[in-house]
Amino acid sequence: MNGRNIICRRKITGAHKCCRLLLGRSVRAAVGLAVAAALFVCACGKKQPALPDKALVGVAYYNKSDTFLNQLIDCLSEQLDALDSPEITLTIRDAAGSQRTQDDQVKELLDAGCKVLCVNLADRADPSEIIDLARERQVPIIFFNREPVAEDMMQWDQLYYVGADAEQSGVMQGELAADAIRSDSSIDRNKDGKIQYVVLEGEAGHQDAIIRTEYAVNTLKDNGIALERLSCGIANWSRAQAQNRMLQMISQHQNQIELVLANNDDMALGAIDAYKKLNVTESAVPVFFGIDGTDVGLKAVADQQLAATVYNDKEGQAAAMAKLTAKLVTKKGLGDLELENGKYIYLSYFKVTDNNVGMFYKDDSYH
Ligand code: BGC
Ligand code: CA
Repeated sequence: MNGRNIICRRKITGAHKCCRLLLGRSVRAAVGLAVAAALFVCACGKKQPALPDKALVGVAYYNKSDTFLNQLIDCLSEQLDALDSPEITLTIRDAAGSQRTQDDQVKELLDAGCKVLCVNLADRADPSEIIDLARERQVPIIFFNREPVAEDMMQWDQLYYVGADAEQSGVMQGELAADAIRSDSSIDRNKDGKIQYVVLEGEAGHQDAIIRTEYAVNTLKDNGIALERLSCGIANWSRAQAQNRMLQMISQHQNQIELVLANNDDMALGAIDAYKKLNVTESAVPVFFGIDGTDVGLKAVADQQLAATVYNDKEGQAAAMAKLTAKLVTKKGLGDLELENGKYIYLSYFKVTDNNVGMFYKDDSYH
């Protein structure tokens, strides 16, 4: 167990404090006493249900170097901290990209007594070990952001998923790009009536990668934009990898590239970095579109470096996960949640341009 991965937030008389995890006996003993006391009250004839007022919750995520995930986890830990009841003690683990590491981390979280697991799979096609471990202890799992395939979600009735609809983000990115191209004829720099474009794609096999690309491109075509694809490169959601890919693409296609569609903001920013590094004159720089609305992404929209982005609603996703966690711990009120097929919650995306970026950007200077 890598101690540096442990983050724990406990409420101490209303104040939020960070502490090292005291996995523990004292916490479990306190929970035990509370439950015993509640049972005693019931036995005396008062019809009070014995609800847990405290719970350990484990969060396992695929990689701490992911910009969007870090912001989503921050939101989640704020939302869980804000719950009045049950009071949550949170443990967060980073799998550094390895499913095997994550399997071990989940086992440790279960051994520590977690009552709910929130899991962002390292390998979204390989959740079976985690599902088996959780089912043995009857601990529900909320998967998030990296969606297991439907078959795996059917393995047990205590599996949930919170995320967003990749298709919607692709359509919105395509619409944003079509609007920009229609309203600014200078984007078609060589005036051939077609837009020469490249794509920077996320991890192969991720539900958001191929689908975003496909729907963005098809939406552009449906909007009557003639396209010519020059290149497509996988950059695994990473700004640094996107910069390298973009440098290669620029050296192959010089100043022919007019549009860059990136599956996320970090890769769009990596592409912008490449142009800056080469000191390309502004008139030869293409337009860039991202997805996520991370802090850096929104700032780039506000600075008019990124033409637009699509907001991946991390606050909404975190709030849905916190609500679901509370209901799973207390085993009450699950019926109040609108779950698709009894398992899924999808939050809507939003379009962000420099016209409305202030609504999303938290820093006052951009309002
Ligand atoms: C986000 C990416 C992120 C990926 C990680 C996607 O939904 O748009 O920025 O890297 O999830 O799984
Ligand atoms: Ca052109």
